[in-house]
Amino acid sequence: MRRMLLVLTLFLWFMSFLNASKLDVSKFPPSFLFGTATSAYQVEGAFLDGNKSLSNWDVFTHLEGKIKDGSNGDVSADHYHNYIEDIELMHSLGVNSYRFSISWSRVLPRGRFGGINLMGIQFYNDLINNLVARGIQPFVTLSHYDIPQVLEDRYGAWLSEEIQKDFGHFAEVCFKAFGDRVKYWSTLNEPNIVARSSYQVGDYPPGLHMDPYGGAHNMILAHATAVNIYKKKYQEKQRGSIGITISMAWFEQLRSIPEDYIASQLARAFQIGWFLDPLFYGDYPIQMRESLQSKLPKFSSKDKKKLEHKIDFIGINHYTSFYVSDCHVLSNKSEENENKSEENEENEAVCVEVERDGLPIGTPTAMPNYYVVPHGLEETVLFIMDRYNNTPMFITENGFGQQGDDKSTEELLNDVDRIEYLQSYLTSLTHAIRRGADVRGYFVWSLIDNFEWTFGYTIRFGLYHVDFDTQKRTPKLSANWYKNFLSDDKSQW
Ligand code: NOJ
Repeated sequence: MRRMLLVLTLFLWFMSFLNASKLDVSKFPPSFLFGTATSAYQVEGAFLDGNKSLSNWDVFTHLEGKIKDGSNGDVSADHYHNYIEDIELMHSLGVNSYRFSISWSRVLPRGRFGGINLMGIQFYNDLINNLVARGIQPFVTLSHYDIPQVLEDRYGAWLSEEIQKDFGHFAEVCFKAFGDRVKYWSTLNEPNIVARSSYQVGDYPPGLHMDPYGGAHNMILAHATAVNIYKKKYQEKQRGSIGITISMAWFEQLRSIPEDYIASQLARAFQIGWFLDPLFYGDYPIQMRESLQSKLPKFSSKDKKKLEHKIDFIGINHYTSFYVSDCHVLSNKSEENENKSEENEENEAVCVEVERDGLPIGTPTAMPNYYVVPHGLEETVLFIMDRYNNTPMFITENGFGQQGDDKSTEELLNDVDRIEYLQSYLTSLTHAIRRGADVRGYFVWSLIDNFEWTFGYTIRFGLYHVDFDTQKRTPKLSANWYKNFLSDDKSQW
């Protein structure tokens, strides 16, 4: 009898364990936003339509040798002309939100040195109205990498303080025009990547090689300008929230030694604290000050005042994880460690790599250095929760890139690996939520295949396949999987 009871208890425990570890939509809070994400330059095309001016990416992609396949976003998925169809795709997925960005050069072709382009306003009004009519919440990024080229030409864009005035003006035009229907504003997408790539690595416009800290400083203050305008003039009436989106890989310690723990903290300071510490604590992380000294700009008391208005949410773009270690204690490495992170160039102490004892950190994907490491999402969210007082978080991007240039359409449609990726990362997210993280939404990158920056069209992130010759959209297996997950359909995809 006793034994039977024991067996029964074990069986029930096992069943409840199975149930708890199974992914289903009921594991997320009731008002959770589930969506897909895109950005203007990557999907819109129509680069000269409707009185739009050239953006920095329009100019950069037309330079020789900048993009892997020599392509550009002139047409891309032509979302500008196909947005109604794309909203239908979202509707059929059953998402309740859509994250997209506004092309600054479509709305203000000459920045603050010219007027508002009513055709640009019209396009976004149409997009937003159609989304709202379908019950899909617009989640809007003000600048997702692209800025009007005129700002680059006039004063060097982010390298000048002038950009604060322009970004503030752009933000206000958008709050005024769209804020009655847009309740989520993200000021900048991945300024940490933009600063590194534009000014240090040089693979994003304007392609410079210098210290990225001055540009980043102006990004932080431009962001703060927009937040102040929103909080002082619009938030109360429009009842929305405003935040910022940061690219966050997870940095896992290579070995369980204190030196690697310190290295992982350093890596996080340089990647995340660089932007979020000033917004929450009024200054850069101490680790950055110590290693960069006078290279790191200072916030004046006027700047600090500007940073007093706090953001309402943190946007997390998360795709992958890395191992980090203290280079000085890396016994089996050569003196000059080749994998010293680009992100932490000044950080002599931090080595970043993707293997331990010859084994990769996770399954590789088509994006160089992107590996499938699901627990990295839980760890990232818990880190943000601890460091920034459990400020509401949105996973503004998470997704899987397929090699797009050497596969048949049929192979691309059969994206079982993407399903596994999404399933495992969403499961990891439920663990973070269970541990108390205030996560309020999740957006798959991306709705449709699109222009993947320096990789052009060689990598595809879409739930929907796009034939770039005909503009035909076709659901991949992952689109059906996401739809069934959202509809709580437990049957197979
Ligand atoms: C982050 C960027 O925000 C997005 O534009 C890009 O396409 C994805 N990562 C995938 O690389």
